[in-house]
Amino acid sequence: MKQKGTDIQAYGKIILLGEHSVVYDRPALAVGIKGGVILDSIEPAEGPAVLDVTDWDLSCDDTSSEDIGLILRIAKNVVGGTGFKASFSSCLPVGAGLGSSAALSVALVEAAAHAAGKKVKRNDIRVTAHLMEKVFHGTPSGLDDTLAAYGGLCLFRKDGWDSNPVSQFLGASFDSGMESISPEAVRIDARLPSFVLGHSGETSPTRKMVAMVRDKFNEDEAGTQALFDEISELVKTGALAVISGDNTALGKSMLKNHQLLYQLGLSTEKLDAMVDMAVKNGALGAKLTGGGGGGCAVALAPGREREVASGWKKNGHECWIASENGIEAF
Ligand code: MEV
Repeated sequence: MKQKGTDIQAYGKIILLGEHSVVYDRPALAVGIKGGVILDSIEPAEGPAVLDVTDWDLSCDDTSSEDIGLILRIAKNVVGGTGFKASFSSCLPVGAGLGSSAALSVALVEAAAHAAGKKVKRNDIRVTAHLMEKVFHGTPSGLDDTLAAYGGLCLFRKDGWDSNPVSQFLGASFDSGMESISPEAVRIDARLPSFVLGHSGETSPTRKMVAMVRDKFNEDEAGTQALFDEISELVKTGALAVISGDNTALGKSMLKNHQLLYQLGLSTEKLDAMVDMAVKNGALGAKLTGGGGGGCAVALAPGREREVASGWKKNGHECWIASENGIEAF
């Protein structure tokens, strides 16, 4: 029987600091966006696993030879082969650096388990979503699937924090306000303002951008590591800024991070122009977010969100205001 109102959802994400270097086990700071992908209805079915995401014009089943067909076969197998018909909605733009594929992966695994009457632990959902992210992106750090599964504001490290605890990384002892949600992710209990997101109008697959950075790393390891070192310092400064509620310092870290991403060849003229315009319109900081080469820019502009979004919109960029609690088109 078709079921509605299951509360199954997965988070989108905004990487505030540290994309790409996170693939090389450097820390990153990111926040989940609630309601990234929401299950509308699910029913178990005899035949294949069938998926609909009307907001993305996506409709397919597990016989598809596209990546999404494999994703559906993984979802079905992981719950013992029970087919399903699942329908989702999403207000995340696809392929824009906001974690749409990871959110779909997490929501899909949870929905498939629900249809098969199985309880799957959150970390097992994340592990399967990580496998799906490999299909979509090649060599993901795990940041996107972790955020998609757990949400919240997180400091993430691909190989985990055991060898270098967060308190050591931050150079201070924070026993309260920090919760380890997995070996890789520590949640920071701090209030964040909302962020303005704007789409550059260009897209570039994350897989391609990650491969481009890998080429750069192989060509000039010392130079690339030096840029990653600088980004790690910004993640530290930014995390401390978030903990102390210092938006000015967080904004500065974001701007510097954008410059370093530019040096890695990940920005575009449009993204650079969006960052400049956001600052002119009162943002404390702005940067590309996610894989780069297009996708979204994020701006921190407490009290000036409308001015920043209006400026971007006038230049033809689709805009959203997003916080931990959700994302709304501007
Ligand atoms: C993509 O959202 C973030 C990247 O750092 C890739 C990854 O972490 O897997 C570019």
